Amino acid sequence: MTADFLVIGAGIAGLSFAIRAAKHGSVLVLVKGGLFESNTAWAQGGIASVLPPGLCDEGDEVEKHVADTLDAGAGLCDEAVVRKIIEEGAATVDDLTGYGVEFDKQGDHFQLGKEGGHSARRILHARDTTGREIARALVETARNTPNLTILEHHCAVDLITTAKLGAVIDDRVLGAYVLNRKSGEVSVFHSDRVILATGGCGKVYLYTTNPDAATGDGVAMAWRAGATISNMEFIQFHPTCLYNPAAIGPEARSFLVSEAVRGEGGILIDHKGEDFTRKIDPRGSLAPRDIVARAIDRELKRTGAPCVYLDVTHKPKGFMKERFPYIYENLLKFGIDCETQPIPVVPAAHYQCGGVVTDVDGKTSVRGLYAIGEVACTGLHGANRLASNSLLEGNVIARRAIEQMVDFYSPDKAQESIPPIPEWEHGDTAEPDELVVIYHNWDEIRRLMWDYVSIVRTENRLRRAATRLRNLSKEVREFYWGHRVNADILELRNLVTVASLIVECAIRRKESRGLHYTLDHPDTADREKHDTVLRKF
Ligand code: FAD
Ligand code: SIN
Repeated sequence: MTADFLVIGAGIAGLSFAIRAAKHGSVLVLVKGGLFESNTAWAQGGIASVLPPGLCDEGDEVEKHVADTLDAGAGLCDEAVVRKIIEEGAATVDDLTGYGVEFDKQGDHFQLGKEGGHSARRILHARDTTGREIARALVETARNTPNLTILEHHCAVDLITTAKLGAVIDDRVLGAYVLNRKSGEVSVFHSDRVILATGGCGKVYLYTTNPDAATGDGVAMAWRAGATISNMEFIQFHPTCLYNPAAIGPEARSFLVSEAVRGEGGILIDHKGEDFTRKIDPRGSLAPRDIVARAIDRELKRTGAPCVYLDVTHKPKGFMKERFPYIYENLLKFGIDCETQPIPVVPAAHYQCGGVVTDVDGKTSVRGLYAIGEVACTGLHGANRLASNSLLEGNVIARRAIEQMVDFYSPDKAQESIPPIPEWEHGDTAEPDELVVIYHNWDEIRRLMWDYVSIVRTENRLRRAATRLRNLSKEVREFYWGHRVNADILELRNLVTVASLIVECAIRRKESRGLHYTLDHPDTADREKHDTVLRKF
């Protein structure tokens, strides 16, 4: 298989890019599962954007959205990048509505929601299933776009680069090895422009809001290919994930109750009914997420309670059903009537703020390799992402990346000096019949990350995690090379890599900032005001 653009991932980043790129050449989009198994499709709250005057909250302006983003990012955002992305908010809304996304409106005006850390109402949404609506429109558009082919159940295994082939020319990407999950075959996909749009890594943690696909494949593949990775210590924990130990099934353990519910007046309370977040920050339940999640963690540890509560019982009857129908109905299914009882909630891993380092056009440190969306670290989020900025980032960078490629990309002239790409060698490795090894290691990684590397950290716990992960990496590597690959082994290998990168970054940061809080260095230190940068070579 050969394509002008090989896009790995079909969330907002991958599809926004692919649809535009198809005007300039052939596009292949790979998805490791089905088209709606992405963080994008699960997004609830909406997409932050400052609209032209008359269409947005009175007095809102780009500079306020910039200021809120910088404030949430705790001193580590790249201000120029923040401004560029936020200035393009209205263009993103045009782009998405052009594909048929139906955001909620009141008359001619978009209905705007609010979330933690935002100083104005600026979140466009489609009730509480914004992501599903965006995914629907993008998938329909992509399916009707000439020059664009989507291959579902195709999992990228590894990137192919000149350095990996031992060529003595400047390192650049040549394509990827890809597993067809149905046939079990691994093939070479050739392209000198590979776009990683593989999303985040929530599944590294035991409790997460993310779907199963979020195993950090893009960061792991980029790392193995020698790309620069940054800021992986900044994992965002969403404060309000449903706590429901009686319910069975993964959806009950990862069900998100959108921050937009707090934007509409929902209040976090403790088991005595007190609003404990006000004691921590004057913005109370609507402070940025790092602050609220830490306040909950502190409250749980202080009281020994298993959860706190999100109270919306004061809202008028019928409000939740009308504004948040998906959340309302699902809570009912789990036996909770939020009109009459507070919702039990706990924090869960939600978003990866760091990732593959790129510029504001998605370019990584490896020639021809681009990264867009949650997999990337552009400088927008710094040490903590402002709510609803990620859908925005995915679309903006996708548009910028294709413009940059069309204007500046020149194919490499030195084709003759590139050695041929070898076919994938399954060798005589056995079928992975010992699945228990995979499941055991998978569980162990996720539990140790939850226990040792979550909201509040210590040097001791991080070092313990690093030691365990070194042993697990060795075991997983042996298993990987000893068996025929399948998606489970690939994901396990990526999980252990990403977990190790998170721990390595966390160990290097000798302060508390944004989402990284350690009891050994509880203050924010001026001298540490820099990204944590990891380079393999
Ligand atoms: P994704 O949408 O996650 O897509 C990744 C794609 O890569 C998938 O298609 C996956 O199958 C594919 N993939 C991964 N690995 C491979 C591989 N090895 N080979 C082939 N394909 C692969 N953000 C907001 O801005 N607003 C919100 O309201 C909001 N709500 C959220 C609610 C939830 C429950 C969650 C989990 C996240 C939410 N976020 C929200 C965050 C936001 O949804 C994500 O950051 C964003 O959608 C990421 O988009 P993406 O295109 O980068 O990745
Ligand atoms: C939410 O709806 O609470 C999620 C918003 C986000 O993660 O940006």
